[in-house]
Amino acid sequence: MDVLKIGVVGAGNIFCSAHAPAYSKIKNAKVVAIADLNLDRAREAAEKFGIPACYGSVEEMLEKEPEIQAVDICTWNNGHAPVAIAAANAGKHVLCEKPLTISDEWAEKIEEAVHKAGVKFMLAVPGRFGSKNNFLRDEVVSGKFGDVYFAKTNYIRRRGTPSGWFTDKATAGGGPVIDIGVHGIDAAWYIMGCPKPTRVSAFVSYHIGDYQTKGVGRWQGTPCPDNQFDTEDLGAGVIHFENGAMMMFEASWAVNEAPYTGTQVMGSLAGADLNSMTIYGERDGYLSDDKVNVGDNDRFLDEIQFFVNCVLEDRETRYPIEQAVQMQKMLDAVYASAEQKKEIVLK
Ligand SMILES: NC(=O)c1ccc[n+]([C@@H]2O[C@H](COP(=O)([O-])OP(=O)(O)OC[C@H]3O[C@@H](n4cnc5c(N)ncnc54)[C@H](O)[C@@H]3O)[C@@H](O)[C@H]2O)c1
Repeated sequence: MDVLKIGVVGAGNIFCSAHAPAYSKIKNAKVVAIADLNLDRAREAAEKFGIPACYGSVEEMLEKEPEIQAVDICTWNNGHAPVAIAAANAGKHVLCEKPLTISDEWAEKIEEAVHKAGVKFMLAVPGRFGSKNNFLRDEVVSGKFGDVYFAKTNYIRRRGTPSGWFTDKATAGGGPVIDIGVHGIDAAWYIMGCPKPTRVSAFVSYHIGDYQTKGVGRWQGTPCPDNQFDTEDLGAGVIHFENGAMMMFEASWAVNEAPYTGTQVMGSLAGADLNSMTIYGERDGYLSDDKVNVGDNDRFLDEIQFFVNCVLEDRETRYPIEQAVQMQKMLDAVYASAEQKKEIVLK
């Protein structure tokens, strides 16, 4: 059996809590090295997960471990582009945690490096591997929903601002829109069939900020140098697509409303709610609400296994660089629209 040799960059929470457990179940991949700016953290992860080598930078890892075939990027958001470009330039395939990067200029540089090197790229957004998302996407693509012209997606935390680098705009690229909004926007966009985005109108707010609410938990990001708290706490807006469809989105880390995560997609023949997996249509002239039970799956495991198989079997990934760049453009346009207080037209 061919076994893909992986070098990981970023030994923090997402690697330790999601990627490492997935690799332990994947038979045709092996993590042969791990790098982190914080060498102690890389060493700790190497010991814990039985990874043979650890380094303090991607450059050193790539130089000393030439057998690496693919790089899995789990760094802060501002590390994604330099690491992806270094990996692609060294001829390595790239799996990159969401969001792609912190600006569309960086996104285009990654795309250029990936195309030039001819390596495979996949943005790691676990929703794309959810059994529910894929069932609905297949229904849409097969035409069962008719023309899909409207979607709504919400990723609302009442209080749930992550700590550390996540609230530092220079490191994270933004707040809840780029951190969790990307999951909701991508779920809706993917189910809609990834139409080309054309216009974005949005606002972001900074009203609650660094709250001191008691009794609420946080995802623990590590502090970055000069850690600021300068990200938004809520973002909302609309995205228009070339085919005439529109999406409304809302994403918050802190807002005074009930927490809720959900996505709905509406077509001319039927619509669906992703949470309840209800398909709203008509049957024999009457309204019908069909519940579909497609079960749940381990989305991180299926995501990483899919990437490994794509590389070994030379197949297209499920979130190629061209789509990742389009997503980055939508996210960038949200911030640009909010700042300029006008609609942003995408090229
Ligand atoms: N898919 C998901 O649902 C999901 C969930 C949480 C986080 N994430 C993403 O995972 C990434 C990491 O988040 P986290 O919570 O693990 O953060 P973290 O702070 O726990 O870990 C990140 C690690 O990367 C290291 N690092 C940063 N820049 C680096 C660079 N240029 N080279 C080498 N090491 C570098 C840091 O020292 C740190 O140890 C982020 O992009 C985040 O958006 C995804």
